[in-house]
Amino acid sequence: MKVGILTGGGDCPGLNAVIRAIGKKGIVHYDDEFIGLKNGWAGLMSLDYIQLERHNFSGILHLGGTILGSSRTNPEKEEGGYDLAIKNFKELGLDALIVIGGNDTLGVAVKLHELGIPIVGVPKTIDNDICATDMTFGFDTAVSVATEAIDRLHTTAESHHRCIVVEVMGRHAGWIATHSGIAGGADYVLIPEQPYEIKDITDKIQLRMNRGKFFSIVVVAEGVELRVEGYDIQTRETDDFGNIRLGGIGDLLAREIEKRIGIESRAVVLGHVQRGGTPTAYDRVLGTKYGIAAIDMVHEGNFGMMTALHGTKVVPVPIEDGVKESKIVDKDTYEIAKVFFG
Ligand code: F6P
Repeated sequence: MKVGILTGGGDCPGLNAVIRAIGKKGIVHYDDEFIGLKNGWAGLMSLDYIQLERHNFSGILHLGGTILGSSRTNPEKEEGGYDLAIKNFKELGLDALIVIGGNDTLGVAVKLHELGIPIVGVPKTIDNDICATDMTFGFDTAVSVATEAIDRLHTTAESHHRCIVVEVMGRHAGWIATHSGIAGGADYVLIPEQPYEIKDITDKIQLRMNRGKFFSIVVVAEGVELRVEGYDIQTRETDDFGNIRLGGIGDLLAREIEKRIGIESRAVVLGHVQRGGTPTAYDRVLGTKYGIAAIDMVHEGNFGMMTALHGTKVVPVPIEDGVKESKIVDKDTYEIAKVFFG
C-alpha cells in the first residue's frame, strides 16, 4: 500500500519512535511505500512531502521532535480546505493516511475520514489530555523533565528561603502539574480543572512558615485562571485552531505570594523545555507500540480509528471518542497531591 504519514500540533518526544515503527514494520512486513507530509496538515494542503525510504526510518528512535516537522495549520481555516486535502490525497495516489496528533489535528482527521479519506490516528501530546486512551506518549518525558526541574529548584529555594513557583504546560488539563507535583514533592499544585483564590495558596505557605519551613515549591499549570485586578496575563493572540497563547500565571502567583505574606518569591517557566529533547524509555516503547498498531490497523482496514492504551494493551478506538472533549485530571489523583499541600 502507499501510505502517507503526518505529524501535527505541538511536537512531543516519541514522535520519531512512532514514525520509525510504522516505517520499519510497513516496509519489512507489508512491502509498503511511504510519503512523509511535511509540517502537519500544511504538507497535504500544499503538496509538500518527501518520499520516505528505509534509511529515513533509521537512527531516529532516540531523537526528540519530528523528522517530518509540525505546524498548527487547520484546513478548515481555508476556503475549500477539505476539498483541497481530498484532491491532494488522491493526486498523491495514497491508499491511507496515518495522522499523529493531538485534539486539534485528530479533530481534522475525524472530519476527513467522514469525507471518505481512509485515516488511522495516533494520539500524541505531552499534556495527556486525549480521551479513550490511558496515556499519550510524550507525557512521561514531560513529567520527568518537570520533576528534575522541581528537584533542582527545591535546593535553591531552601538555601535562599524563597517560594519558587514553577509554571508547567497544561492548557485544559493539569496532568503534568499533578504528576510532577507529586513526584517532586510540591507544597501546592494548581490545575486548570478547578478555580482557586490566592488565599488558598498563601494560607498553606504561611502554615509551612509557622512550622519553621521558610521555603516552598508551588507548581502551576499554564492554563490556570486566576483573576487579580489590574493584572492581565492573557495575550489575545490565537493559533489556527483558536487556542490563545498562554503564559504568565507563574509570574502573577509569585508576585501575589510575595506581596501578601512577605516571602521572597520567584517564578520559573519551564515552557518548551518540557517538549524538547530525547524521549524517555517509556515514551520510546509506547511510541513504538503505537506505530506498530497503526500500520497493522491500516492493513486491517481499521479506518476512522486511533491507537489507544488500555492497561498494557494497545487497542483501536474511534478517533472521535478520543477528541470529543479534553481528558481532565481525575479527582482521586489530585487528592493524592493535596495530601502534601502546606
Ligand atoms: O502541545 C500542547 C501544548 O504543550 C500546550 O500545553 C501548550 O499550551 C502549547 O502546546 C504551546 O505550544 P506552542 O507554543 O507550540 O503553540
